[in-house]
Amino acid sequence: MLLTLRVHGSRLCLGITGQQRRRLLASSAAEEAKKVTTPQQPLQLEINGGTYATDSWTNVTPKILSHLGLNKHLQRDHPLSIMRQRIVNYFYGAYRNQRGNPLFSVYDQLNPVVTVQQNFDNLLIPSDHVSRQKSDCYYINREHLLRAHTTAHQVQLISGGLDNFLVVGEVYRRDEIDSTHYPVFHQADAVRLVTKDKLFERNPGLELFEETWSGSLADPKRILSSSKCMDQTKQPCHTLEAVKLMEHEMKHVLVGLTKELFGPRIKYRWVDTYFPFTQPSWELEIYFKDNWLEVLGCGIMRHEILQQAGVHQSIGYAFGVGLERLAMILFDIPDIRLFWSNDSGFLSQFSEQDLQNQPKYKAISHYPQCTNDLSFWLPPDVEVDAGFSPNDFYDLVRSVAGDVVEQIRLVDKFKHPKTGKSSVCFRIVYRHMERTMTQAEVNEMHKQIADASVESFNVQIR
Ligand code: DAH
Repeated sequence: MLLTLRVHGSRLCLGITGQQRRRLLASSAAEEAKKVTTPQQPLQLEINGGTYATDSWTNVTPKILSHLGLNKHLQRDHPLSIMRQRIVNYFYGAYRNQRGNPLFSVYDQLNPVVTVQQNFDNLLIPSDHVSRQKSDCYYINREHLLRAHTTAHQVQLISGGLDNFLVVGEVYRRDEIDSTHYPVFHQADAVRLVTKDKLFERNPGLELFEETWSGSLADPKRILSSSKCMDQTKQPCHTLEAVKLMEHEMKHVLVGLTKELFGPRIKYRWVDTYFPFTQPSWELEIYFKDNWLEVLGCGIMRHEILQQAGVHQSIGYAFGVGLERLAMILFDIPDIRLFWSNDSGFLSQFSEQDLQNQPKYKAISHYPQCTNDLSFWLPPDVEVDAGFSPNDFYDLVRSVAGDVVEQIRLVDKFKHPKTGKSSVCFRIVYRHMERTMTQAEVNEMHKQIADASVESFNVQIR
């Protein structure tokens, strides 16, 4: 037996190997006592191909781990995937190189298992910051956790030589579950770095860094002390001109994104805030349904972060945005749990064919769906879209059955090789808004649709 919780999609397995049992016996009495009090906890976890020894920090659960790899932000027609594409497309359009190619690269499949170093230390999050608490994060062990924000990948990507990139993915935070909170949600994070030559193309005399600044690395002790007293004007190393120009560009681009998403007349405002990894920092709020709602956080990147990543001659801005929040506002989705629904009544309402024009979400019924197929032969010489239009059939179904039909889809069509006749099959999903429908009731309605089709389209039911 394996004492391993293996997670990749839905593969979970719990048990003990002989070697692990020996290790368990050899471990200290205190450790052992802990294992006894938490008997379900395996000695090690296997997640996305990595093996992690558990310890007193481990608090991930099989339920939370089951979200890894679901990739709702990449699922075709999913509202989170539509949000991802709209943000990415906006950035592709907003920044192009001299050849006209997008400047930003996109990372949307990075492993959500990160180190404490990546999630916190690299981003100068103080060692006593509340966000590090066990009660707030999903720890795999004392060194690894499920990323609490997509910002966790900044240093790794900058170190790899990137200077314009977007990271999109799911993040994990311990939270209550209600209509606006779920412990797994999605973020997009972006970084843009520019050098002096680019920033001051038109003002070559200006500098990124203060002449008086020594250029040496910040004292790590200072990085890790929890002092919120930060000057909102600028970091000591930067010149005011550099910060103001970056701020201007960043705000211009982010207001552009907001208008692209919510329309050109959206009311917005900038609010000063604090993030350990940016200085100065802002939140962008939009006015929606009589309330100011925070939609994103951003700022001028702390120079220590760039230095750690080996970048010494650039200034950067970064921002982070939650996808669920945007989608809930944009599509009028009332409950964050719907994003995890596999109910086709939810998913069929969105389509990435036309990213800009999405309908508002219509509440789906809590009652069960009932699916029936209807196949028929079209009259001789008639084919789909040549004498028979599926849209006509959809209208007929709606006029016969009304709102209890939730979805209709053409699932199959073929032409008989000998007779030359065409056959079609439609899948009709029935669901009542107020009660459970009986199968007999659905069958009766289905028969009425079949009869009406024979009459209207001269088809032959198969
Ligand atoms: N990581 C922040 C959060 O999860 C959001 C954020 C703020 C990201 C500012 C950034 C940034 O990259 O510059 O709340």
